[in-house]
Amino acid sequence: MTRHLLTLDSLGREGILANLHLAGDLKAAGGMARDAIPGGRLGLIFDKPSTRTRVSFEAAAWGLGMLPITLRPDELQLGRGETVADTARVLSRYLTALAIRTFDQARVEELARYATIPIINALTDDHHPCQALADVMTLREEFGEFVGLRVAFIGDGNNVCHSLIQAAGYLGFTLAISTPEGYEPKAEIVEAARANCRINGGSIELGHDVRAAAKGADAIYTDVWASMGQETERQERARIFAGYRVDAELMALAASRAIFLHCLPAHRGDEVTDEVMDGPQSRVWDEAENRWYTEQALVYTLVTGKERLGG
Ligand code: CP
Ligand code: NVA
Repeated sequence: MTRHLLTLDSLGREGILANLHLAGDLKAAGGMARDAIPGGRLGLIFDKPSTRTRVSFEAAAWGLGMLPITLRPDELQLGRGETVADTARVLSRYLTALAIRTFDQARVEELARYATIPIINALTDDHHPCQALADVMTLREEFGEFVGLRVAFIGDGNNVCHSLIQAAGYLGFTLAISTPEGYEPKAEIVEAARANCRINGGSIELGHDVRAAAKGADAIYTDVWASMGQETERQERARIFAGYRVDAELMALAASRAIFLHCLPAHRGDEVTDEVMDGPQSRVWDEAENRWYTEQALVYTLVTGKERLGG
């Protein structure tokens, strides 16, 4: 059966840990799994903008010996009425794997239903699993293990938050989420992760008090207040989220060893201050770098079925 990455559920605990192991090996070895998939072709469809995901996947493809083929919606017949199913069938004849960034999670799932190659979710309105892999890699580099960790997520219960919730459930760390009322993460994602926490440890806490979430945290994570596709809500959200800014005062409530994480792009001055972004606790550039290793490991494993280079 073709393996995909639709959400972190596609990997589960063992798949995430295997990805981190291989990504760590790649990083230690200088970054590239050179020619692990010689002659491979990695398609990349972006229905929304991207800096990190596009460049890290293209670099990952190159590192693996694959040709990256990046496509924008106005370059595809999909936008002119060709069905997702037919697109999946055709692209499967040319490509070795296909990553897609789009709006509706159902579109990624439909592609996967008809494709005979691995489909990778490169962000939807509901999930950002590739980001969460780099996030947990960064946490592990800093703290060594997940059990006992407390991560605070401050802001919108969005795609990045959802994937982090799934990661917490599989890896057994505590995620304390603080959002304005009405901007909580989806209940079914929270409930499924809580069931996993009962097996793996940790917990998912929900609340509206940023200080309570940040208190004693080992990491404070935030993301933009208005995600891609929510541009028209930007002003309203700026008002509603005004109390959900990560600043030095909030960081001071966290544990003394606490780090700051952000998937980026950041809207400096909104969800995070310059002082925190550029301060000594910030690990955001390492986090962004780790996208490259986790994505190489991901594509390698999905395409070859192997969890170790040459293994
Ligand atoms: N974090 C992330 O996915 O960034 P891009 O939108 O730049 O790809
Ligand atoms: N929540 C953000 C993440 C960007 C990487 C968005 O969807 O725009």
